[in-house]
Amino acid sequence: MSVVCIEFKPGLEGVPATQSSISYVDGQKGVLEYRGINIRELAKSSSFLETAYLLIWGNLPTREELENFEHDIRYHRRIKYRIRDMMKCFPETGHPMDALQASAAALGLFYSRRALDNPEYIRTAVVRLLAKIPTMVAAFELMRKGNDALQPRDDLDYAANFLYMLNEQEPDELAAQVFDVCLTLHAEHTINASTFSAMVTSSTLTDPYAVIASAVGTLAGPLHGGANEDVISMLSEIGSIENVRPYLDKCLQTKAKIMGFGHRVYKVKDPRAIILQELAEKLFDKFGYDKYYEIALELEKAVEEKLGGKGIYPNVDFYSGLVYRKLGISSDLFTPVFAIARVAGWLAHWKEQLATNRIFRPTQIYTGEHDVSYTPIQER
Ligand code: SDX
Repeated sequence: MSVVCIEFKPGLEGVPATQSSISYVDGQKGVLEYRGINIRELAKSSSFLETAYLLIWGNLPTREELENFEHDIRYHRRIKYRIRDMMKCFPETGHPMDALQASAAALGLFYSRRALDNPEYIRTAVVRLLAKIPTMVAAFELMRKGNDALQPRDDLDYAANFLYMLNEQEPDELAAQVFDVCLTLHAEHTINASTFSAMVTSSTLTDPYAVIASAVGTLAGPLHGGANEDVISMLSEIGSIENVRPYLDKCLQTKAKIMGFGHRVYKVKDPRAIILQELAEKLFDKFGYDKYYEIALELEKAVEEKLGGKGIYPNVDFYSGLVYRKLGISSDLFTPVFAIARVAGWLAHWKEQLATNRIFRPTQIYTGEHDVSYTPIQER
């Protein structure tokens, strides 16, 4: 088969890498749909686990299907003691995303590999990863403080149990409800970098634990999921409303990227950022204001004045940190929280791709030389 070489696009911008029915983004209108359902509808009416089921199996579950799915996830939340013992050896100064990537990969050591044509294997891997990733994120948080990890509580739902394991106390009902919506908002977003990484890894038919470990490593970067942590550092550095414009001018002069802004697809405000702002304001009403919010609002206004014409607007990472701060989550855990949610999307694409898999092996435009002779070291 002759290879038709198409034009090289840095970062594969605008190049379709797959055909998918999982989610859809309209970057001009600011629309995000999961399996055709608008994200605002899911944020209002669904739950993270129901949304994860929708993304992975393609339909909203019946009451019985959802109850069975939720039951199975509660049952699989615990992690092997050897993984906990391994995590106790991690340096407390290590970044939680590195701890998550290592422990996610370690899951693969305990479960049979690659029965990828068996729907039961697929479902069990989905349940294990959705159930255990939050437990591992919370475990590292307690261990790096020198404490023992808490066992999951089967009487708490998915969001409440994570906040309990993390903060060592049952969360407020509104806090758990808001966190569950945050997970829904972060669950899936077409072929972003970490999902593409998951797909490339999946295409070699390796095990799903290696797939998730690949995706976690990709999400960690500051241009992708790591931006949410950097936004809080940026707001802290700005420090006051008066300093917003001088800070922005300095970024523009040095061509520094303003974290939490811009997107490869959205050229308007990310619909998730709009909902996250509403969630943040709900938490402020109940738990008190956060002065970083007024700095963020002023920065959004200033960036729109300067860069709105280039389609640079807040993305999902700009306001998420303000919600997480109110939920008592440390800023270096913001990206692991993003990963907890995105496991649903990564697994949805993993499952979808297995149905028509072909190993990813793109081509290149060679820019090097040919027939170069070898120079012995003594002559170099
Ligand atoms: C996520 O893909 C997804 O869907 C990702 C995500 C998901 O749910 O999976 O939505 C989650 O990763 C959100 C993005 C989080 N990252 C950040 O907030 C980091 C800051 N943002 C930028 O690095 C950037 O906007 C990207 C990486 C998000 C997108 O980069 P692109 O599409 O490669 O755009 P680019 O870097 O080529 O920029 C195009 C122009 C440039 O100006 P010119 O050189 O043409 O004059 O826009 C400018 C850039 O300088 N620009 C910015 C900017 N983002 C783009 N200028 C200042 N600040 C920014 N944040």
